[in-house]
Amino acid sequence: PRSIFFSRHGESEFNVEGKIGGDSLLSPRGLEYARALPALITDNIGKDTELTVWTSSLRRTIQTGSFLPYQKLTWKSLDELDAGVCDGMTYEEIEEQYPDDYANRDDDKFNYRYRGGESYRDVVTRLEPVIMELERQENIMIIGHQAILRCLYAYFHNLPQADLPYIKIPLHTVIKLTPKAYGCDEERYPLPI
Ligand code: G3H
Repeated sequence: PRSIFFSRHGESEFNVEGKIGGDSLLSPRGLEYARALPALITDNIGKDTELTVWTSSLRRTIQTGSFLPYQKLTWKSLDELDAGVCDGMTYEEIEEQYPDDYANRDDDKFNYRYRGGESYRDVVTRLEPVIMELERQENIMIIGHQAILRCLYAYFHNLPQADLPYIKIPLHTVIKLTPKAYGCDEERYPLPI
């Protein structure tokens, strides 16, 4: 059976600073995760199994995949949820500068759209072509972002929209999904980094 692997990018400089969005590079820990990924994947699928790695167009996902010895494809549609005017801010700064927005997002996180940016609902729509292609492919590893992987994960596990923005997709963990006739089997491989 074919498998789909999900991983967030390794810890980025922005993750360390608590800022959202941006296009920062990996932190030293994040880079350590990137270096540990190839062994984790080959141990899991075997040396001669084909795999294609999909990343977003942002540097932290490309850097995370850079040591993997597989064919790679970059998708702009896999870029992180666009936080618009809040891009590059911490959640504390957002709460201070846009208190109404902050509260509205809390009320309805799936539908809340950042000023000049996107909502989770927008992201689900822009991921449709990615999901169509994913359904046609064999083994794929997606190195993505938290909001994006929440949407893909909810699709494969048929989770309700209202829960989707709260799904926990931890850093430095590979999630392996094996689609079945109904639903998906799942295994998780956390790396202690
Ligand atoms: O940087 C953006 C995060 O991946 C999205 O997290 O939707 O829980 O704020 P959030």
